[in-house]
Amino acid sequence: MNQPTTPNPTTSSSPAAVQWIGESDGYLQLIDQTLLPGELRLIKCHNVETVWEAIKTLRVRGAPAIGIAAAYGVVLSQHGKTAAHSTSLAEAATSAAKYLATSRPTAVNLFWALDRMDHVINASRAGGSELGQALLAEARAIHEEDRAMCHAIGRHGAELIPDGATLMTHCNAGGLATAEYGTALSVMFTCQDQGKSIQVYADETRPLWQGARLTAWELQQRNIPTTIICDSMSAHVMQTRKIDAVIVGADRITSRGDAANKIGTYGLAVSAKFHGVPFYVAAPSSTFDMTLSDGAEIPIEQRDHQEVIAPYGQKLAPSGIDVYNPAFDVTPAELITALITERGVVQPVTAEAIAKHFA
Ligand code: MRU
Repeated sequence: MNQPTTPNPTTSSSPAAVQWIGESDGYLQLIDQTLLPGELRLIKCHNVETVWEAIKTLRVRGAPAIGIAAAYGVVLSQHGKTAAHSTSLAEAATSAAKYLATSRPTAVNLFWALDRMDHVINASRAGGSELGQALLAEARAIHEEDRAMCHAIGRHGAELIPDGATLMTHCNAGGLATAEYGTALSVMFTCQDQGKSIQVYADETRPLWQGARLTAWELQQRNIPTTIICDSMSAHVMQTRKIDAVIVGADRITSRGDAANKIGTYGLAVSAKFHGVPFYVAAPSSTFDMTLSDGAEIPIEQRDHQEVIAPYGQKLAPSGIDVYNPAFDVTPAELITALITERGVVQPVTAEAIAKHFA
């Protein structure tokens, strides 16, 4: 059953975006991010289909968070099945992993997490431990590792940000998109933890307003001075006000450093280059896809036209009009000043530097 509650943006006592409740017979609890900031509603996922739907419709979103949610989704495939048929338990887990992989195509964290779950399934086929518990242990490890990576990203990134900085970000790469703290927002939260004073311009991020709805909400909870701007205002703001750095997250970064992130990120990077503003991409190692070199190879999710024509049910455009709605774009490595990972800072962003960073 879903639980509606009233969000309190001035406290940081909100539940986690992704949380496993109980043991291997437990369930996955998510914040329904489509309703924020108006309503803080928790969804309880008891089966794989509910998790798939939550990822597809962005109830849970952000590259690391969908990987974590999908891992727990595989755990749910074991529910209601008896340990008497270990082959069918493994088959249920494998088919759950395959199904969850069809939910969204761009964030490589999803496939990275499902690959890890596949390894556990294969180990159990080879006579390993009880599958349900092994799957839960792996999902919890993925979750916990992401939490640690986000905090490390924050610490490394904060070293790049001076006291008094004015920052700009796009979409939401915060606690809602990860286990905790986020990637781009982790840098901001860590600056604040260190006593630095910062202020942030948050792009609203059309068509689904992750910046206006989610980033603004998270920054407001932490009392970080925040100004929302329409996406089309960012170049003007860089031209007329002092922006010290742009920091964004990523959904997939290739071996040469091309980075896919929410649509609009590339334009922001072009503007940042023109105005001499450092452009940082903060992401954990689980966001790197070392099998791809050229960003053009990254699959870009195309989403429903209704998101543009009638966002959140509000009809804005004439019926019958053509729409193009790619959810992500790719920023070439040349436009990225530095990558911030849990291991440190990669600068300049080149294939050699990335290979060395992860060696
Ligand atoms: O479509 P979304 O909301 O899942 O897009 C999310 C982003 O683009 C984030 O910037 C990215 O996943 C990084 S989250 C730490």
